[in-house]
Amino acid sequence: MDLDLRDKAALVTGASRGIGLATVKALTAEGARVVAVARTTTKELAATGVTVVHADLSTAEGAHTAVDGAQDAVGDLDVLVNNVGGAVGDMAGGFADFDDEKWHAVWQLNFLAAVRVIRRALPGLHRTRGAVVNVSSIGARMPGQGPMPYTTAKAALTAFGTALAQEQGRHGVRVNTVSPGPTRTGLWIGESEAGARLAAARGVDQETLARQVLAELGFTTGRVIEPEEVAAAIVFLASPRAGSTNGADYHVDGGINRAP
Ligand SMILES: NC(=O)c1ccc[n+]([C@@H]2O[C@H](COP(=O)([O-])OP(=O)(O)OC[C@H]3O[C@@H](n4cnc5c(N)ncnc54)[C@H](OP(=O)(O)O)[C@@H]3O)[C@@H](O)[C@H]2O)c1
Repeated sequence: MDLDLRDKAALVTGASRGIGLATVKALTAEGARVVAVARTTTKELAATGVTVVHADLSTAEGAHTAVDGAQDAVGDLDVLVNNVGGAVGDMAGGFADFDDEKWHAVWQLNFLAAVRVIRRALPGLHRTRGAVVNVSSIGARMPGQGPMPYTTAKAALTAFGTALAQEQGRHGVRVNTVSPGPTRTGLWIGESEAGARLAAARGVDQETLARQVLAELGFTTGRVIEPEEVAAAIVFLASPRAGSTNGADYHVDGGINRAP
C-alpha cells in the first residue's frame, strides 16, 4: 500500500535510536523528507542521511530550536512525531523516592516537550493540514505498573492528544497517539543506564528484567515488541491513508492492556 508520504516534510523527535530511529527509517523508506531531532547523532542515524537537528527537548529553548531547524530544512511540517521520552536518571523506587526535581524532569521530557514542539509547529501544520503522532506508553493505561512520574506524565500526554485532536480537527490537523508496551530498545538491551539501574534493583541482568516484565504483564504475544512494529503504526497514522482517524490511541502492547 502506498502511504502517500512521498516528499512530505516530517520531524521526528528522540530520533537517534530506538523507536525514533525506526520511525525515521520507515518515513524515509516512504519517500518523506525527514528531520531527526536528538542531542547526539548516532552512527545508525548518520547512516540514514537525513537532516539532524541537535536540541535538548527537556527545555523550551530546545523545542523551539528543533522546530525552527526542521522548518528551515524542509519547510512547514506535514508530519510531526513527538517520540522523545522515557526514563530520566534513576527511576527505581516508589512514590517516596521521587522528589520535585525528579517529577519536574520526567514531565518536561515526557509531556511538556510534546506540548512545546506542537505549539511551535502549529501555524505550519495549519498551512499543510498536517498530522501529529505522539508516542505515549501503555503505562498511561496501567499507571501502577511503572515509575509514577513516568506513567502519569504519559497519561497526561494521552489525554492531551485526545483534547488536541478535538480542538485541531476543525483546522484540518489530526492528532493521534501510539502507546507501546515494552519494546526492544536501550531500556531492555543494555544501552540505557535507567534500564541497568532497574535491573540492578531487582538483582538481575536486563534480558532477565525484560523476561520478568513480560511475564508479570501477561504478554499475549509472548515476545518483546520490535521498534519497527511501533514505527509502522506511527507512520500509518501520520499518513493520509489514516485521514479519518483523529484522537485515536493505538496500542502496540503485545495485548497486555485488558481494558475493552
Ligand atoms: N522502549 C520501551 O519499552 C517503551 C515502552 C513504552 C513507551 N515508550 C516510549 O517510546 C518513546 C521512545 O522510547 P525508546 O525506548 O525508543 O527510547 P530510547 O531508545 O531511550 O531513545 C530515546 C531517544 O530520545 C533522545 N533523547 C533523550 N533525551 C532527550 C532530550 N532531552 N532531548 C532530545 N532528545 C532526547 C535520545 O537521543 P540522545 O540521547 O542523543 O538525545 C534517543 O534518540 C519514548 O517516548 C518512550 O517513553 C518506550
